[in-house]
Formats: sequence, C-alpha cells, structure tokens
Amino acid sequence: MDGGKVLVVGATGMIGGLVVRRLAERGGAPALAGRDATRLATLARESGGGPCRAFDAYDLDGCADLAPWAAQALGGLDTVVVTIGVAGFGRAEEVTEAAAEHLMTVNALAPMAVIRGALPVLQPGGTVVAVTGAVVDRPLVGTADYAAAKTAFATWLGIVGREQRRRGVTVVDVRMPHLAGGFADRAVTGTAPGLPPGADPADAVERYVLAPILNGTEASL
Ligand SMILES: NC(=O)c1ccc[n+]([C@@H]2O[C@H](COP(=O)([O-])OP(=O)(O)OC[C@H]3O[C@@H](n4cnc5c(N)ncnc54)[C@H](OP(=O)(O)O)[C@@H]3O)[C@@H](O)[C@H]2O)c1
Repeated sequence: MDGGKVLVVGATGMIGGLVVRRLAERGGAPALAGRDATRLATLARESGGGPCRAFDAYDLDGCADLAPWAAQALGGLDTVVVTIGVAGFGRAEEVTEAAAEHLMTVNALAPMAVIRGALPVLQPGGTVVAVTGAVVDRPLVGTADYAAAKTAFATWLGIVGREQRRRGVTVVDVRMPHLAGGFADRAVTGTAPGLPPGADPADAVERYVLAPILNGTEASL
C-alpha cells in the first residue's frame, strides 16, 4: 500500500471513515483511533483489521500517546491523518466558557497533542495530514470560537511544517471546504447559518487527504 504504515485519528468520523475505507480498498490496514471503542472495532473489522485504540480529546497525554502506540503496533509509522473536530456557532457573547473550551480542545489542543506525539516516531520522509477548514481563510460572523481554534491549529501546523522540513517530514494542512454530510448539524453549541450545499465528501477526501498520502501531491483548495 502506498502511504506505508498509517494512523488515522478520528477514524469513526465522516472524513476519517472515508480515509480508512479508501486505504483498505488499496490493501492497507491502518491503525485506527477514535472516541467510541465499539464503533472503532466494527470499522477495523470491516476495513483491513488494523489495530485500534479509543481516546478522548480532553486526555491530551492520551492523544500524544496515539502515534507511539501505532508505531509499536504497526512496526513503524509513515503517515498520520488527523480528522477530529467539532463545529460551534454563535456570536462570541453567546458562547459559554465550557463550549469555548470544548471547541479549542477538540479542534486545536487535541490534534496538536496527537501530532506532537507523532513527530519523534514518524519515519524520515513521513507525512502528517491534518484537516483544519476553509474557515481559516474565510471566517464567517458567528464562528469566532470555532474559527479561532482552527486558525490556531493551522498556524501551528505551518510552523511545525517548517521545523520538520529538514527531517523530510511533510505537514499538510487541509483547509477543507464545506462538505455534505451534516458536520455543521453536529455542532457543540449554536446553529449553523444557512450554508450552501456542501461538496461531495468522497471526492474531497480523495483529492485533498489521500492525494498527499498516496502520491505526495497537495491539491490546491
Ligand atoms: N465536514 C465538513 O464540512 C468539514 C469542513 C471543513 C472542515 N472539516 C473538519 O474536518 C474534520 C472532520 O470532519 P467530519 O465531517 O468528518 O466530522 P465528524 O463526522 O463529525 O467527525 C468528527 C470526528 O471528531 C471526533 N471527535 C469529536 N469530539 C471528540 C472528542 N471529544 N474526543 C475524540 N474525538 C472526538 C468524532 O468522534 P466520534 O466519531 O466519536 O463522534 C469524529 O471522529 C473536523 O476537524 C472538521 O472541523 C469538516
């Protein structure tokens, strides 16, 4: 399988699940990490039988331990795909501190911890692919906390990518466009503004997430 030994974090989500199934179709058995152990085990059975581990975004040490675990289970690690995240809407004064903390934890601190833990164990020539969002470049009114978390993560990824270049580790920030599939409807707070129809998730995953893994090419968004 191209892409080598792969860890998918957020495997039970829409984007993560599509990545796992596409890799399995190509003969891979990626390591899977997700919040729900039962759904994770079912997904692993249906897609190559790779090892799986449950975690929660609030356990940052547990997040940082995912890549070392995967490297041990797979006998090395070439690629980490991070697709966890949660939406949240509302004017800044309407968002509770608990919701703001949740958005920053799931969209920034947890994915950063996953990647921080991965850097020492990724093989030279390895790849990190992390999904942020188009909101980084085009933030909408009513998304201050969500957009701030994604932008913090995107800035962090950009710097880490420069830091890792000499080691040959590539860091890809996928500023995913709005997709069909109901991500905005699963918001932890508030209600999504009227959004245009989303793009096709399978096509977007193929172009923006799998292409950098399988061919080393970053599609421009
Ligand atoms: N879909 C879009 O339109 C879109 C557009 C731009 C960017 N994005 C970004 O793409 C990523 C994935 O989106 P998606 O559409 O695949 O969303 P999704 O189906 O809702 O998946 C989100 C993933 O994050 C996980 N997650 C949420 N809270 C967590 C927590 N506390 N601890 C551990 N895992 C947690 C979910 O776990 P469970 O499976 O257990 O719920 C799931 O695996 C997100 O970062 C999102 O911001 C999506």
